[in-house]
Amino acid sequence: MPQLDKSPERVRTMFGQIAPKYDFLNNWLSFGLARRWRRFLVAQVFKRLFKHWDVSNRIDTLDVATGTGDVIVEFRRRWNKRFKNKLGASTSSVGVDFAPEMLELAKKKIRKKNLTDVEFVEADGTNLPFPSERFDAVTIAFGLRNMVDPKQGVSELVRVCRPGGVVAILEFSPTKFPIFGPIFRFYFHKILPLIGRCVSKHKDAYRYLPQSVDDFESVDTILNYLREFGIEDARRYSLTLGVLGLFIGRKREV
Ligand SMILES: C[S@@+](CC[C@H](N)C(=O)[O-])C[C@H]1O[C@@H](n2cnc3c(N)ncnc32)[C@H](O)[C@@H]1O
Repeated sequence: MPQLDKSPERVRTMFGQIAPKYDFLNNWLSFGLARRWRRFLVAQVFKRLFKHWDVSNRIDTLDVATGTGDVIVEFRRRWNKRFKNKLGASTSSVGVDFAPEMLELAKKKIRKKNLTDVEFVEADGTNLPFPSERFDAVTIAFGLRNMVDPKQGVSELVRVCRPGGVVAILEFSPTKFPIFGPIFRFYFHKILPLIGRCVSKHKDAYRYLPQSVDDFESVDTILNYLREFGIEDARRYSLTLGVLGLFIGRKREV
């Protein structure tokens, strides 16, 4: 099988072209589960981040491959619920993506929701324009598998996270669950690309999705990258019968 073309030019152009339909398709093709998955990611980040938190320390977060900014929106929803009226509590969020069309939609969404202290930066996730140890939490949802060099992507996520901070990666993986696995594979490889193509009018973006999942590193490889770069207690939660997983852990304090 020829290797999947994940060149940054191809991936950036493709996401740029499907950007206007991205949220709609993301929601419907996942049967509304995408939102729940992001909720789980943010809940697990909160669990680790606010365990021993001194309210006077501002929390800075970074979301890589942010797309239309949904991880940031979910982070702020939970933050407002818990800390909105807590004296001294403050947070700022940065979203990075290399597709400017996605970032434009993210900015609009953030404005519409009246969220403050949110900034978007156009950059490649494998070469982040931030100093080391800059953020308290670094997340990426459905972005890592699109990178030509996922190892370099993980290394950058960990580099910009402060010691004691949290790194979290949400990503699909081929499910091997009995009975459900083959049914899901049929949906993912045959039905989803068909609907995606009709709605987005893009000829292969939604064929690329299952291909990029099959082409991605194994679960153990991602866990090993995290450990190699200094994430202690790195673990993976399996979600929706193994369709995807959350890799998460804290950066070792030195
Ligand atoms: C499937 S979308 C996920 C968007 C969002 N995180 C979400 O939860 O819906 C993947 C996003 O990753 C971005 N992306 C892919 N590779 C990237 C890279 N190397 N650097 C920055 N952004 C990248 C794409 O432009 C796209 O917006």
